[in-house]
Amino acid sequence: MEIQGHRRRGLVLVPWLMQGHINPMLQLGTILHSKGFSITIAHTQLNSPDTCSSYPDFVFLPLLSDVSSSQGNGSDDFSGQISNLNSNCKAPLQELLTQIVLKKQEQHEEPPCIIYDPMMYYVKAVAHHLKLPSILFRTSCATNMLSWYVCPGIQKEGYTPFQDFKSLELVPGLHPLRFKDLPVIPNSDVKILDALRQLVTCVQNIGTTSAIIFNSMDCLEQSSLAQLQQKCQVPIFSIGPMHKLAPAASSISLLEEDRSCITWLDKQAPNSVIYVSLGSVASVNEKELAEMAWGLANSKQSFLWVLRPGLVRGSESMDVLSDDLKISIGERGCIVKWAPQKEVLAHSAVGGFWSHCGWNSTIESISEGVPMICRPFFGDQKINTGYLSHVWRVGIELENDLEREEIERVIRRLMLENEGEEMRQRAADLKLKIKLFSKQSSKTRDRDLEKQGDRFHRLM
Ligand code: UDX
Repeated sequence: MEIQGHRRRGLVLVPWLMQGHINPMLQLGTILHSKGFSITIAHTQLNSPDTCSSYPDFVFLPLLSDVSSSQGNGSDDFSGQISNLNSNCKAPLQELLTQIVLKKQEQHEEPPCIIYDPMMYYVKAVAHHLKLPSILFRTSCATNMLSWYVCPGIQKEGYTPFQDFKSLELVPGLHPLRFKDLPVIPNSDVKILDALRQLVTCVQNIGTTSAIIFNSMDCLEQSSLAQLQQKCQVPIFSIGPMHKLAPAASSISLLEEDRSCITWLDKQAPNSVIYVSLGSVASVNEKELAEMAWGLANSKQSFLWVLRPGLVRGSESMDVLSDDLKISIGERGCIVKWAPQKEVLAHSAVGGFWSHCGWNSTIESISEGVPMICRPFFGDQKINTGYLSHVWRVGIELENDLEREEIERVIRRLMLENEGEEMRQRAADLKLKIKLFSKQSSKTRDRDLEKQGDRFHRLM
């Protein structure tokens, strides 16, 4: 698509500072760069990606602001931190974009288009002020966004959004999901819920944004994507799975990947290892960690476990396992601080994934045909769990308090029993479906983007 060495219009990408948001934004950047666009990443100083060698073709510009109090760590003050970061970054982004626009004018080039994460909702006001086109990139599934449209309706019927539902009843307007699959914010008091409701309204208001991009596929969420297209007045593009479409995109890990686990996996039998990782934000208390460890040890299955710094609330130390546990685990467990997850999931030794079900982990796992144990914590993770366990039926949900006997049972169900084998077969089928869809849509995607979009290209 690149026209005789000339780059298309410049794109400025503004990611949210969490690992699960940075990864897909860089993948999108890689895909669009391969189509001839030049890419600038405007990122926060906090969690500033170490970019020197990974993306030589991108320009990385830090938003110089005081963000020390604005960490995105999933704590109760999360909404306050988001709004701090949004007010702190507004002026620096405006200044940076003004400079870019002036430079483009001098060079008689078109002004840039902005692609932003909705958590950085201030961007749309800046883009509007500078009369620049902007596109929203949502890193969670389309159904998560749809649920925000549906929640006010069910609120009228007396339900409170973000609370923990148990009901298996289907949610009107969100089939095939059930009330229990709706997003939940744990331990929320009324003040936090109110702040979050305001935040949702703010993030949901797409304002003058020209289009929305999802890291998803029709073959996963056809109904939600179609419904959203009706509700939002702008074109919706589902381009996924991005980590497969942009294989050259190395992840920029905020923590160093420990590759010794791949050497360890190489020595294990096919489908014998359960991979355990709760992503970059979720955390457990010490008691829950001990229950996880004993459940894994007692299951007698081999496991690779990511014990990242910050996983255990209130403990910075990584030496959290007792001597008894270490003896009981023996050679069966490999524990690392951070793993090359995509490579781990593609490894033939991995037969299951115990996950918090962030959207990236979800699509990375199903793209490799790995069945899952689902232990969602907050936000979109419940929706993803609903899809995995109830709709695609490639996962077992681990419900209730974390207890070693239940954990042991669930691991054995997934790794050793017929039920797990059937899930592995369905996961293999889903992998194939995604691959075929992806292959077929890569042929039609460019054509559709040109057609739908000439709209898309005109926007940029
Ligand atoms: C967050 C939210 O928690 C999630 O619900 C939302 O969908 C995206 O933002 P996170 O918790 O980090 O993300 O989970 P996830 O979406 O799964 O992203 C984690 C990323 O880190 C994945 O791309 C995964 O490959 C990577 N990862 C994780 C590693 O590379 N190594 C690890 O050891 C663990």
